[in-house]
Amino acid sequence: MDSLKGKVAIITGGGSGFGRATALFFAKYGAKLVIADLNLAGAVAVAGECITKGLGGDDVIAVEANLTNANDRKKIIDKCINKFGRLDVLINNAGIGLFATLVNTPPDMYDALMDLNVKAQLYMTQLAVPHLKATKGNVVNLSSIASEEAISVCGVYGMTKAAMSMFTKTLALELARYGVRVNEVRPGVAHTNFYVAGSGNSEAERKLLAAEVITHPMGRLVQPEEVANAIAFLASDMASYTTGNAIYVDGGRHCVGAGYAFTRKSKL
Ligand SMILES: NC(=O)c1ccc[n+]([C@@H]2O[C@H](COP(=O)([O-])OP(=O)(O)OC[C@H]3O[C@@H](n4cnc5c(N)ncnc54)[C@H](O)[C@@H]3O)[C@@H](O)[C@H]2O)c1
Repeated sequence: MDSLKGKVAIITGGGSGFGRATALFFAKYGAKLVIADLNLAGAVAVAGECITKGLGGDDVIAVEANLTNANDRKKIIDKCINKFGRLDVLINNAGIGLFATLVNTPPDMYDALMDLNVKAQLYMTQLAVPHLKATKGNVVNLSSIASEEAISVCGVYGMTKAAMSMFTKTLALELARYGVRVNEVRPGVAHTNFYVAGSGNSEAERKLLAAEVITHPMGRLVQPEEVANAIAFLASDMASYTTGNAIYVDGGRHCVGAGYAFTRKSKL
């Protein structure tokens, strides 16, 4: 992970959850950071935590930005280049969920999910690519187990994450000749603000998360730090010949098939 030292990374949605854990990991290894978030207070707080991890006060900036807004996306890139003069890693992490069946998803929520989870990732990456070509940098996208597993209570969310996975593979092909790598992480369920926002109330959230524990064969939810570890690996020179790839961080959930209930009960 020493290769992260001095690298410049943009972390979208860096003010909370996986983005926060990733910022703290990168700070520990001496990367320079742009923490971009709709929630400025969250981004500023994480920037402060990075400084307590040993990062210089001049090595991290918090940027208030709505990723669905074109001017704000440009602001993130401009602030990064003006401050650090380069970009090595783009972490497309900001995303929202929605707990609704496909047939009950209203048009405004469909648009909100597509606007942030799909369109904003593409347009943010388009702005970053010239800078990543210059540094032979890389992109790490946040997809999900829901990109491949049909989950009936969050259908549109799954559609956005499936789109993200095809985005990862296609962009990896486009950028391979420039030495720019593109990969993604597919986390299982983690208790972050994502669930508070997606479920709408704390009782629904508590029930949902309790039910999710047994869906992970290793028997617990994912910790944000475990997702950060995978992101950091893909962003680092440790993954220098890895592109178009996905790492699941889900305690084995993506392996679960029809026989899982039998396996759980058996003593084999
Ligand atoms: N938590 C999970 O169980 C889980 C599982 C798989 C994948 N994911 C994915 O991981 C990513 C991060 O999720 P998390 O769990 O850390 O969630 P989180 O809610 O803790 O963090 C997301 C961050 O994105 C920011 N954000 C939201 N909308 C934004 C916008 N329009 N512009 C800029 N910033 C915005 C929020 O303010 C927040 O700080 C998301 O893409 C999510 O889909 C989450």
